[in-house]
Amino acid sequence: MITKIVRVDSKNIDNDIILEAGKVIKTGGLVAFPTETVYGLGANALDGEAVKKIFAAKGRPQDNPLIVHISDFESIDKVAACVPKSAEKLAEKFWPGPMTLIMEKKAIVSDITSAGLSTIGIRMPSDEIARELIKAAGVPIAAPSANISGLPSPTDIERCIDDLNGKVDYIIGGEKSEFGLESTVIDCTTNPICILRPGAITLEMIKSVEKEAYIDPAVMDKPKDNLKPKAPGMKYKHYAPKAPVKIIEGDFQKTIEKINEMVQNYIGEGKKVGIMATDETKDSYKNALVMSLGTRKDIYSIGKNLFETLRSFDDKSVDIILSESFEESGFGVAVMNRLNKSAGFDIIKV
Ligand code: TXA
Ligand code: MG
Repeated sequence: MITKIVRVDSKNIDNDIILEAGKVIKTGGLVAFPTETVYGLGANALDGEAVKKIFAAKGRPQDNPLIVHISDFESIDKVAACVPKSAEKLAEKFWPGPMTLIMEKKAIVSDITSAGLSTIGIRMPSDEIARELIKAAGVPIAAPSANISGLPSPTDIERCIDDLNGKVDYIIGGEKSEFGLESTVIDCTTNPICILRPGAITLEMIKSVEKEAYIDPAVMDKPKDNLKPKAPGMKYKHYAPKAPVKIIEGDFQKTIEKINEMVQNYIGEGKKVGIMATDETKDSYKNALVMSLGTRKDIYSIGKNLFETLRSFDDKSVDIILSESFEESGFGVAVMNRLNKSAGFDIIKV
């Protein structure tokens, strides 16, 4: 398949391109597109045959449901069978934006989209290209992250091209994703509501609307038999580059010492080491490929660069990646959730 690749200026969106890509969705094709979280791979959510192609292109497990993207509030009632009060309040406060709400679905949404569940995740993105594309398609767009299943999600067009060129009809490029981590997923079918995947809409923000809200305990922990995440996608090995990742956690100074000590040992074994550091620490390491995620003063900069940094270590063919850790509060909960999963919960406490 020949993939049409087009870059769009998000401040001056070329309408002809959006109309063409919208038509591809409407007629059963696949389009990768930017959102404020990560890039998505979209198909018509109402068309099971179209959605099957997403699973094939990504190599995605069949039991992992997709998020349905809409561009206006009226569309909620087209896809949701019932809208709980909690969902209504959250949507009003945080949409459009990086938040997905789980509700009972209407039959019009394909069972392939929901992976056979009676519920669906709905999201109204804020990215202008995404919104225009949904409008042009005239149908809700089912879209997972636009990566090969298991790899870190793409936050720019180049990574979409790496993963999907030749496998999808269209790739639209916009800016680098604003948040860099996927949306917060909230199950609104239960009372109290439960956060199934942490994201840029944080627990504190959600509690300002629904004070009993809590995070599914299984998402911050290593998968165990008695502790299974409620979002099917959270049980899989995920966000993992090819090189194994180890997280060093604890006191700032001890972390630096431990990482330098580990580097020496790996070098002795003939290994090339990558270090995920921060602006504050990057000059404290030697004999390794050091990349800074951003400043510790702004956890949003860390989240924005996390996936791209993980992927760029693979381009540099390092054998092992050692990462610093971050405080699990605010957006840091989402950062550590993705980092822990990328490391398969290989955490060394110092
Ligand atoms: O930010 C995002 O949400 C991005 C952009 C493209 O919008 N999309 C995204 O989709 O991250 P995906 O498919 O990579 O992740 C969707 C997550 C999975 O963990 C999935 O299991 C969960 O949401 N999910 C979707 N529908 C669900 C449902 N009905 N019940 C429970 N979990 C659900
Ligand atoms: Mg994904």
